Amino acid sequence: MQGDDPRSYRDFGDLRVIPRAQPRTVLVANAKGGCGKTTLATNLAAWFANRDKATALMDFDPQGSSAHWLKLRPDAAKPLSGIAAYGRVSGTETRSFRNRLPRHVERVVVDSPAGLTGTDLYDRISDADLILVPILPSPIDIHSAANFIREIEMTGALREQNKQLLVIANRVRRNTIMFSTLNAFLSELGLPRVTYTRDSQLYTRAAAQGMGIADLLGAQVEQEKSHWNRIGGWIEHQLALRQQHRQQMLQR
Ligand SMILES: Nc1ncnc2c1ncn2[C@@H]1O[C@H](COP(=O)(O)OP(=O)(O)OP(=O)(O)O)[C@@H](O)[C@H]1O
Ligand SMILES: [Mg+2]
Repeated sequence: MQGDDPRSYRDFGDLRVIPRAQPRTVLVANAKGGCGKTTLATNLAAWFANRDKATALMDFDPQGSSAHWLKLRPDAAKPLSGIAAYGRVSGTETRSFRNRLPRHVERVVVDSPAGLTGTDLYDRISDADLILVPILPSPIDIHSAANFIREIEMTGALREQNKQLLVIANRVRRNTIMFSTLNAFLSELGLPRVTYTRDSQLYTRAAAQGMGIADLLGAQVEQEKSHWNRIGGWIEHQLALRQQHRQQMLQR
């Protein structure tokens, strides 16, 4: 085996170099405020943690909502590391030192602030393996999401760096006209639509305890859990494909 699997090595004659595992990074972003970035970021981090992936939640939003959620997380829940990437660096500290990941982290979920644009947007995309864009099924949100996706496409980062973008319809009430409008919008853009998350008090209740849907037990969470298994499963599949692609490039 080759590549950056922790058990793998590259053989350079007598010298065996054991590369460190590279974490896979998922960016959650949308310039529009209140569309569910923090909700999706924290729920995805909880999903990875419940799959026993060593996961870090990185918060670039000065509001610090993800960092606050993590403080509420009970000791009994699957562990997550947190990195408060917002704010100025102080004294002699560098940004990369402040944002360094704990060793052995396998998945990083990045929560980003509303209004992400320009070079900050480009940098966040460059650091990510996959981009999740939550959209609320309302005319204003669909309109502004279209502009945001256009801006992402204009950076060229997705094409250059061969990255997938996944739109998730958040707070969906099924069978509404807006849900169908959103579906039509996604197919027009040629973007994959994996699933949606329901508008449910389960999210607010879980968040108040530093938890995500994947942490919850009981019959009433089964349906929402199945959505998360589809979202998480799709993401894992895309990350594996990207990894395969990188290994093929390395072996050339
Ligand atoms: N699927 C959902 N069902 C019910 N409530 C939700 C859902 N998703 C988000 N919310 C609620 O909507 C509000 C906004 O969500 P959230 O904080 O995740 O958005 P955001 O995009 O991170 O906002 P900001 O731009 O301010 O960072 C929160 O009160 C959250 O609990
Ligand atoms: Mg937020």
